[in-house]
Amino acid sequence: MTLLAVSSLTKRYVSGTRPVTALDDVSLTLDRGQTLGLAGVSGSGKSTLARILLRLMPADGGMVRFEADDWLSLSGRDLRRRRARMQMVFQDVLGAFNPRATVGSVLDDPLRIHSPLKERDRRTEIAALLDRVGLQAALATRSIRDVSGGQRQRVAIARAIATRPSLIVLDEAVSALDVSVRETILRLLVELQQERGIAYLFISHDLAVLRAVSHRIAVMDAGRIVECGPAGDVIERPRSDAARSLVAAVPRLVIRG
Ligand SMILES: Nc1ncnc2c1ncn2[C@@H]1O[C@H](COP(=O)(O)OP(=O)(O)OP(=O)(O)O)[C@@H](O)[C@H]1O
Ligand SMILES: [Mg+2]
Repeated sequence: MTLLAVSSLTKRYVSGTRPVTALDDVSLTLDRGQTLGLAGVSGSGKSTLARILLRLMPADGGMVRFEADDWLSLSGRDLRRRRARMQMVFQDVLGAFNPRATVGSVLDDPLRIHSPLKERDRRTEIAALLDRVGLQAALATRSIRDVSGGQRQRVAIARAIATRPSLIVLDEAVSALDVSVRETILRLLVELQQERGIAYLFISHDLAVLRAVSHRIAVMDAGRIVECGPAGDVIERPRSDAARSLVAAVPRLVIRG
């Protein structure tokens, strides 16, 4: 069942010396509980798409259907309420949160806004969320600045699942982590997806990562989706130049015949 349908999305930035077309007629769909990997070289428009979906900035044109909503038309109270359904995990967790905030308060924010829980029940819920992502409850009193990169990414995932979303947009969420930590985080994400039926829009420049988590992969180039298909097909039989050069750029990628 289709969860997210993006149609003909366009976006131009005009802040620089000359305008940049960051999204040029982008269309894609994502089914419930599935992962769509989004690949593409730097500057191809991946984060722009993420920011528009998350309603962090407006599009110039096009339409997004998310669950039952005409998503880009929601505003005010409706938007605030429905926002709980689409969450995000970015690469730079420190930049996204007040660095002086504690782990507990980072998790309490979405619960306070979106859940009916009273303070005491929220504390229980925060402990459960930390436990679910493999962190000790005692970490709640720690400053977000004073935990490791891997722990911080787990906190970001706990925060993202706190409101029981149907979609999480992950923009280079594991890119800054070293390989072994990355693998445990990817495993956690896949487990959470199986447990809770969450769909992921998983943005990464690393095709090996996308191959590990994605059901389908879309490839962007200069603001356009140039290829989209089952993950194995896109990686083993890329049809576009953009996909071919991404595959060629991953020397450690092992392709089984
Ligand atoms: N705020 C902005 N103002 C002007 N141009 C921007 C802005 N943000 C992005 N761009 C431009 O829009 C294009 C798409 O950028 P975007 O950040 O979406 O790419 P990306 O695929 O996420 O790249 P990366 O892999 O490096 O994160 C690029 O040409 C970029 O320089
Ligand atoms: Mg980006």
